[in-house]
Amino acid sequence: MHADLSTTYLGLKLKNPVIASAGPLTGDFDSLRRLEDHGVAAAVLPSLFEEQIALDEQRINAFEEYQTFSSAESLTFFPQVKEFSVGPQEYLGLIARAAEELSIPIIGSLNGSSPGGWVRYAKLIEEAGAHALELNIYFVPTDPNQSAADVEQRYLDFVARVRNAIQIPIAVKIGAQFTNLTNFVPKLAKAGADGIVLFNRYLEPDIDLDSLQLMPQLVLSHRHELRAPLRWIAILRDHVSMSLAATSGIHYAEDAIKLLLVGADACLVTSTLLRHGIEYVDELRRGIQQWLDEHQYESVEQLKGSMSHSNAPDASNLERANYMKALVSYSPTT
Ligand SMILES: Cc1cc2nc3c(=O)[nH]c(=O)nc-3n(C[C@H](O)[C@H](O)[C@H](O)COP(=O)(O)O)c2cc1C
Repeated sequence: MHADLSTTYLGLKLKNPVIASAGPLTGDFDSLRRLEDHGVAAAVLPSLFEEQIALDEQRINAFEEYQTFSSAESLTFFPQVKEFSVGPQEYLGLIARAAEELSIPIIGSLNGSSPGGWVRYAKLIEEAGAHALELNIYFVPTDPNQSAADVEQRYLDFVARVRNAIQIPIAVKIGAQFTNLTNFVPKLAKAGADGIVLFNRYLEPDIDLDSLQLMPQLVLSHRHELRAPLRWIAILRDHVSMSLAATSGIHYAEDAIKLLLVGADACLVTSTLLRHGIEYVDELRRGIQQWLDEHQYESVEQLKGSMSHSNAPDASNLERANYMKALVSYSPTT
């Protein structure tokens, strides 16, 4: 008798906890079909970017060269529309086809930093048949007049506006740079989020010393990056009842097991599938199954959260104690 791998995420019943996260592998129908064939439980489509929506809405394509190179300076920071793999209409078409022809839940994704056209597209994504929507609110605050509270309020306003517009579940993908997630995340739930995805990877730029230009650099994740979601899911699990999904650094089945132990409902993966191929989903699923069977767990549900912080009387002191232990246990050979 094998352990039951099913889990619930955003109110959706999933056959296992492995979700293909937003990225190149979820951007076309054939890859989505292959992901389903290899057993992912759901797929998050690549994000539709606020800038794509804005450009689409201004019907700027006809003036693309002019707008990109000689208009508002800030527009030169953004890729030209044709550099995105699909435009908004194709995006909605992909959602509609995937939702119609595949059996796994399809999660749309919007990525932006101001409400703009989001609300309209959130609705269109829902109407196209998406089972849920992920909001990736991505911005780096640079205005010294904007306080931490202002930044948090901006997130809450986005979520509330989108919540008012659609019925499907909403997940908010956030970065780790908040002062106190145990205070902020319940507010996201109150604003209407059904789940959060921890953590968005903020990509730090590099400088090309020949051209003296900033170079955007995307590197695939490393396994050590899973420590941040591991810590925060362990802490948050006991503060909120909303869904918690982990992303960043999940490369092996063992990584997913650790995150489930601390209370993750689902594990979102991209880098490991880009490295090993879509077939690697089989490996991840088999590894989770094997671990549960060997350790005599009956189900993922039984495993979920069994190592969250709830047994620690003071999570903050526990964190400090672990930090001090790590420092004093260092030896040059480790
Ligand atoms: C090439 C690439 C493209 C990505 N595109 C998106 C995207 O469109 N929207 C988004 O929210 N995340 C995007 N991500 C982030 C992934 O969904 C994922 O959250 C992140 O890579 C961490 O997971 P990983 O360690 O399994 O890669 C992208 C990641 C990669 C590597």
